[in-house]
Amino acid sequence: MNILVTGGSGYIGSHTCISLLEAGHSVIVADNLSNSKIGVLDEVRNITNKEVVFYKIDVTNAEALDTLFSKHDIDGVIHFAGFKAVGESVSAPSKYYFNNIVSTLVLAEACQKYGVRKFVFSSSATVYGDNAVPFVETMNLLPTTNPYGETKAMSERILTDIAKANPGFSVALLRYFNPVGAHESGMIGEAPNGLPNNLMPYVTQVAKGKLNKLRVFGNDYPTVDGTGVRDYIHVVDLAEGHVAALDNLHEGTHVFNLGTGRGTSVLELVRAFEKANNIEIPYEVVDRRLGDIASFYADASKAERELAWKAKKDLVSMCRDAWRFEKHH
Ligand code: WQD
Repeated sequence: MNILVTGGSGYIGSHTCISLLEAGHSVIVADNLSNSKIGVLDEVRNITNKEVVFYKIDVTNAEALDTLFSKHDIDGVIHFAGFKAVGESVSAPSKYYFNNIVSTLVLAEACQKYGVRKFVFSSSATVYGDNAVPFVETMNLLPTTNPYGETKAMSERILTDIAKANPGFSVALLRYFNPVGAHESGMIGEAPNGLPNNLMPYVTQVAKGKLNKLRVFGNDYPTVDGTGVRDYIHVVDLAEGHVAALDNLHEGTHVFNLGTGRGTSVLELVRAFEKANNIEIPYEVVDRRLGDIASFYADASKAERELAWKAKKDLVSMCRDAWRFEKHH
């Protein structure tokens, strides 16, 4: 199929482009490069030895998107493009609501106009709010702690309503847990602008000496060792989950957790990284981070049942692959 990947030069988007190409799909990327570099697509071409068509456009720009749809016969879209920094969303909410909601609406409108019937949306476990674990797709969602999470929950509702109103339009809402790691080549990976917000890129930058120590945000949570527990999933497994969702997509709206089903604490991840890469990661325990919840991880059984997809890569490969990318960059 001919797939439009918005945000395709980003961290998860670029890994998904590789999985799509390797599965025999053709790929068109639309990205405004606000949080990624165009060189990533050259690496995707080098890794797969396949072509990627690229348009530097902002997905909120309906006219630019219409021109793209008029030029290509698109069979499906995967919508990654959006802002994703939780902290920034708290300080700049209108920027997040405009960009993340309008891009989803404009893209869905273009799909209706051009008869594109498959829509895969990049959602997030954040939409569950502080629910009981493990998070299950059938749970009632609780309010999230930030505008970023609200834009994901709202986009899910918008797409669900559009699917209800348009028989034949199929939507997959993929709720990611914590994506980490990088393609085994080490040529693409997570390269956040500025100081990393997330744990793994912070650890790899400490390992490289760019940062002098990790701050562990609290060790007084009711967890195995007091530090926060999350469901870390290798970004390549996550990418494969998108291809599985696209290939199995049928009419209506379908929600899937993309996680491993396993919880790992901050200190367990640090120790796994140290052991996997034979590197010491100095850290200091500091106060909890505002908005953090103690523990969340997926019930990953629905994707396994309905998509025949299950995360395969373990924590060691997540740590090794993340470190290999950091060393190259
Ligand atoms: C993981 C754990 C921190 C950094 C966020 C977004 C979520 C999703 C994934 C987009 C927590 C601890 C972290 C550090 C630390 N993004 N930590 N020191 O917060 O679970 O999820 O990224 O969809 O929407 O909220 O990920 O990597 O920031 O934190 O101790 O320097 O590591 O307290 O327990 P999080 P994270």
